[in-house]
Amino acid sequence: MPTYAFNLNGNPVSVTAPADMPLLWVLRDQLGITGPKYGCGVGVCRACTSHINGQPAQICTVTISQAAGKNVVTIEGLAKNGRLHPVQQAWLDDDVAQCGYCQPGQIMQAAAMLKTNKTPTDADIDGIMNVCRCGTYCRIRTAIKRAAAAM
Ligand code: FES
Ligand code: FES
Repeated sequence: MPTYAFNLNGNPVSVTAPADMPLLWVLRDQLGITGPKYGCGVGVCRACTSHINGQPAQICTVTISQAAGKNVVTIEGLAKNGRLHPVQQAWLDDDVAQCGYCQPGQIMQAAAMLKTNKTPTDADIDGIMNVCRCGTYCRIRTAIKRAAAAM
């Protein structure tokens, strides 16, 4: 099997895996990175959302061969220098999570949006397609606005 190298949360890693293995499986099963969650496996629920080269990506649909050489950031790598990302802090302040399963993906999607949209409207936030079966959408909206203000 081939070996693939990429950058994960600021550190170089390499794995031996089939070329078509989804990055989500590589992270969870080989590297012990369990923040990105499995929901649908086909790019719809977005529970696995992480960042690849700074862009949000559904890593259940990205193969390890496609991820080779890229910068991958998961929820585990969002905090910097011991400080939570403003989106993470807002999530705590607004007590967003219920079961929590979708929340790493929600946070990574929100953090990506706030890089390019500093003042998201309700419509912008409602355009986020990450699914939450617990229905935390109203608190997500509040928390994203809190994070936007903090940033
Ligand atoms: S697991 Fe549903 S989009 Fe990746
Ligand atoms: S908090 Fe339970 S699925 Fe979103």
